[in-house]
This record gives sequence, structure tokens and C-alpha cells, in this order.
Amino acid sequence: MTDKSNPYQVPTTGHVWDDNLAELVNPPPKWWMIGLHASWLLVVLYGVFYPMWPSLGGYTKGILGWTQVGEYKQDLKAIEAVRAKYEERLVTADAAGILGDQELRDYTVKSAKVLFGDNCAACHGGGGQGGPNYPVLADDDWLYGGDINTIQASITNGRMGMMPAKAGVELSEAEIDQLANAIAQGQPASTPLFMEKGCFACHGMDGKGMQALGSANLTDGIWRFSGTVEGIKYTITHGVNDPSDPESRNAVMPTFGNTKLSETDLKKLAVYVHQLGGGK
Ligand code: HEC
Ligand code: HEC
Repeated sequence: MTDKSNPYQVPTTGHVWDDNLAELVNPPPKWWMIGLHASWLLVVLYGVFYPMWPSLGGYTKGILGWTQVGEYKQDLKAIEAVRAKYEERLVTADAAGILGDQELRDYTVKSAKVLFGDNCAACHGGGGQGGPNYPVLADDDWLYGGDINTIQASITNGRMGMMPAKAGVELSEAEIDQLANAIAQGQPASTPLFMEKGCFACHGMDGKGMQALGSANLTDGIWRFSGTVEGIKYTITHGVNDPSDPESRNAVMPTFGNTKLSETDLKKLAVYVHQLGGGK
């Protein structure tokens, strides 16, 4: 008959109480004990090599002298060493030169992303997608020009396109209406008013704009302000950046040449914007 209180016949300590109450000898398996001892040993060893225990006025430093700050500084040094190689070349290269050098250009585009985010994204959007009243930089349609030097000039010197309210001439409501409708259809030159009222002087005979003035192309369906008839009428009536009309549309690109941005930063941004715009 098997002993119901000890079916596996585990050895007992030999002590018996109350006739048949015995204590079994059941040690944990060996692998488990090894694990237990290894783990406390590891804790002690860790404390020997690495900073660990709080002590009076500080902490135990460990014999390796490792610190988190030290590791961070070392990593930073390694990164800066890689950067320095490019940054030195950027000082002497001009923006066009950077564009022509694939390696330098890749580095520049990556490192300018943060500059763009900090200085430009508030108006032009994180990806250069523009916003109400702020031009898109991520297309190949330019007010002032998309070649690298013009872009750099736009950033360094700022821009402020100027169109006088009612183009500075006599314009009746009906004439404004007629001009706005022609422009909304992308055909500004289809009304003789475009010539008669002098719009062509800034927007060109064909209405495609002049980059020297930053006068918008009125034929391409890309709108700086608004493409609705109402919106276009507003632009014609109040102009752009016309100080004599308090309701004039506002379009000021700040000057960055006199800010904390360095020459190198300005070059980097020009290259960055150039590649956003699909420039080659
Ligand atoms: C305060 C808003 C604002 C900020 C900040 C700003 N811009 Fe602009 N940017 C404008 C406006 C508005 C225009 C259009 C000016 C005009 O219509 O005459 C413009 C025009 C431009 C143009 C000319 C676009 C074209 O079609 O020719 C470039 C290039 C440009 N910005 C790049 C930048 C870069 C790079 C930065 C950051 C360093 C920046 N901008 C920061 C508002 C801003
Ligand atoms: C003195 C130069 C000048 C004259 C004259 C002028 N414009 Fe403009 N116009 C501009 C400039 C510059 C801009 C672009 C402003 C900007 O984006 O910063 C502009 C923008 C516009 C826009 C806005 C386009 C858009 O994409 O939202 C319309 C519409 C327009 N002009 C219509 C006219 C009409 C119609 C006339 C004639 C009655 C006229 N302009 C005469 C300089 C001029």
C-alpha cells in the first residue's frame, strides 16, 4: 500500500510528529540554485565595475569609471568628427558647388532639416507645403525664381512683393469684376483692361508674371492668395503690401541675412529649399 501523504517516496528529515506527520526533503533543482547564486553575484560584480551604491556625499564610482554623461560626450565627439569633415568644406563651397557634390549635398539636406523646422516651417509648413498667404516651396513654381542663387537671395535679403491697391489706377467695380473673372479662368490677357489698366507692366503681356518683381503668374492656377473671383477682386481692390491701404494683403518674407543664422546656415537652407522645389 502506498503512503498517501508521500506518494513519490521522497526522503524525509526523519522527524515524525503526531504519529505520522513527517517533513519531506525537497530541495530546489540545481539549475535553479545556480541561477540564484549567479544573480546576486552579478549584482555585486556590477557594483564593483559600475557606479551603483549611494554613499555619503556621492556614490560608488565603480572601477571602470563609466558615466552616462561620459558616454554621451564620447558619442557626441564621434558625431562631431564626422560632421567637421563636411562643415569645413561648407565654409568655402558656395551653394551651387554644394549642389554639384552629391555627398556634400546629401549631408547638407539632412542637416538643414532642423534649421528649416526652426526658422521657416512656421510660415512655409514643415515640408515647405505653404499655408494661407505663405507660398509653397515644395513645387517648381516660383515668384522670384527657383535657381539656387535666387533662392539664397530670397532667404538672405527677404522679399516683399508690392502691388498697389487697384494697381494704382482708376478702376470701377465693373472693371474689377471683369478682370477678376478673366484671371479666375487663367486668361488675364483676354480682357483689354489688362493692358489698359497697366496690369501687364508687372504681370507681363501674357500675365505669366515677372520674377524680378515677384509678381505672381496669373495663368497657372496656382494662387498666392485666392483663386476665387471674390478673392481675386479683393487682391485687385486692396493690392499687396500697399502701405496706403490698411486692408492690403500681407506678404513679407523676413530677412535672414542679419539674424543668428551663419553664412553656412543660409547656404544650407538654400540647398534644402532647392531640393524641396524639385530643382535639379
Ligand atoms: C514670417 C513668415 C515667413 C518666414 C518665417 C519665412 N518665410 Fe519665406 N516667405 C514668406 C512670404 C510671405 C513669402 C512671399 C513673399 C512675397 O510674396 O513677396 C516668402 C517667400 C520665400 C521664398 C521665395 C519663394 C519664391 O517663390 O520665389 C523663399 C525661397 C523662402 N521664402 C524661403 C524661406 C526660408 C528658407 C525660410 C526660413 C529660413 C523662410 N522662408 C521663412 C514668409 C516667411
Ligand atoms: C506694380 C506692379 C503690379 C501691378 C501694376 C499689378 N500687380 Fe498684381 N501683383 C503684383 C505682385 C508683386 C503680386 C504678387 C505679390 C506677392 O505674391 O507677394 C501681385 C499679385 C496679384 C494677384 C494675386 C495672385 C495670386 O496668386 O493670388 C492678382 C490677382 C493680381 N496681382 C492682379 C493684378 C491686376 C488685375 C492688375 C491690374 C489691374 C495688377 N495685378 C497690377 C504686382 C503688380
